[in-house]
Amino acid sequence: MDKKPVILFSTLTGNAFRLACAAADAMPCDYLGPYNIYNYNIIRPNLIEDYDTFIVTYWCDKGSADKETISFIEKCKGKNLIVLGTLGVNPESEHGAKVRANVEALASRENNLVAHYLCWGSIDLKRTFEKTKIPEGEKGHLSMERFERQKLSIGHPNGHELFEAGVVVNQAVKSLYEI
Ligand SMILES: Cc1cc2nc3c(=O)[nH]c(=O)nc-3n(C[C@H](O)[C@H](O)[C@H](O)COP(=O)(O)O)c2cc1C
Repeated sequence: MDKKPVILFSTLTGNAFRLACAAADAMPCDYLGPYNIYNYNIIRPNLIEDYDTFIVTYWCDKGSADKETISFIEKCKGKNLIVLGTLGVNPESEHGAKVRANVEALASRENNLVAHYLCWGSIDLKRTFEKTKIPEGEKGHLSMERFERQKLSIGHPNGHELFEAGVVVNQAVKSLYEI
């Protein structure tokens, strides 16, 4: 394969951007990016047509990848995808397993899903604390118990998770490019 792999990220609060930086640091060859998935087409309008391999980092929104990532993956046909995600709960939980399955179904439908790494990512507690002020029984209410559980996300992705993400990308790219 002669075309460089391309790194893209989708992030709200920076966790998935950190995964993209970890991917970039671990790349075994020249690459393009990291580009923001939101506006990569301003810089590279034909990116999807012109390249074969994409490393995409996403944040979990309502049990799947975020909308920008879903839209990007839906535009890809027959591409190699290496997908790295971050979510607000322990990835080994039941919810984590569902997120993993949803993203893998999406990424492998019309593309070659080469690798998928999913890790915990800190939740924006300032934002969610506001929801604890919504009265119980009303839409959007967040219990203090759930808010306390959300605190466990702080500090992720940590150094170990960023290292693991890098290893996954490094090995996946080496296998594809026969490096
Ligand atoms: C609107 C919204 C929806 C979210 N939905 C989920 C979800 O369904 N499951 C989950 O585990 N985390 C969920 N999260 C938490 C984020 O996926 C998590 O904090 C992630 O690390 C944020 O990544 P980022 O810093 O790249 O934006 C949600 C966050 C927001 C803001």
